[in-house]
Amino acid sequence: MRASAPGKLIVLGEHSVVYGHRALAAAVSLRTTVTLRPHEGLTVLGESAIRDDRLDAALALALPSRGYRVDIATDLPIGRGMGSSASLSIALLRLRAALEGIEPDFTWLHAEGFALEQIFHGQPSGIDHAVSASEGALVYRRGKKPRSVSMPPSTVVVLDSGTAGNTAELVAGVAARRPAIDPVLDRLGELVERSLPHLDDARALGEAMDEAHAHLAAIGVSTPKLDELVGLARRNGALGAKLSGAGGGGVVLALCPGGGQDTLRAAQARGIHAFRCTIPCGGQDAHATEP
Ligand code: MEV
Repeated sequence: MRASAPGKLIVLGEHSVVYGHRALAAAVSLRTTVTLRPHEGLTVLGESAIRDDRLDAALALALPSRGYRVDIATDLPIGRGMGSSASLSIALLRLRAALEGIEPDFTWLHAEGFALEQIFHGQPSGIDHAVSASEGALVYRRGKKPRSVSMPPSTVVVLDSGTAGNTAELVAGVAARRPAIDPVLDRLGELVERSLPHLDDARALGEAMDEAHAHLAAIGVSTPKLDELVGLARRNGALGAKLSGAGGGGVVLALCPGGGQDTLRAAQARGIHAFRCTIPCGGQDAHATEP
């Protein structure tokens, strides 16, 4: 039995979403796939593309304690802010639902997903696994039912800083800088509100992403490497670029209508791992569980 779920990119509103502001995020075509095979004795982890000492706790919470071998494959870079743990959590829950004969609707997946995401990220807002569970593009406010938004598909280039950020630590770092940084968190939230009515205007969205990156740097979650990647993308054809996810490492998201060839080429010429994808991916009907 096999199930999968997508990763995500936060387009606008990371960190401020933790404090009740809305954020915009989109599923990507890269997915995590979990395969369950019958196995005598205790449930064990087999092959896994995700190596993390919190995996055992997540498997113990999500799956029956006996009877299965669990293999995990993923297309996502791990720990780079693209939702590898959220996609794993949702794929595991889809398997549990299949084992228990439950139809896993969004409400169930999202509620159950919190306990798994807390293993990986402490006190997450829930946005990562909300996108993974629903696919497509979402406007998310903590504690509220997310709203799917229609967002024209955009070509983005993802530039990998080569290091992972620790989401729980970054969120805690932002919390420690409050209340001094609250006006910046408010500005990040306002930027989302201003941008939502114009998601079909790539130039305006690019400008909003640039502004968001400046605010994220001001609250202390960017790094010199992320700033460098943002600058590189902007100088090479991107309409806007920002860190995406918790920061402290992870990836930069560059909005590049027209395919992003110049951004990709410039990144690759400097030995930076960069790839193209289209966001948002999938939608409410995306099929994710197979017998
Ligand atoms: C992580 O992808 C997004 C953060 O806003 C944390 C969260 O919302 O849980 C940094």
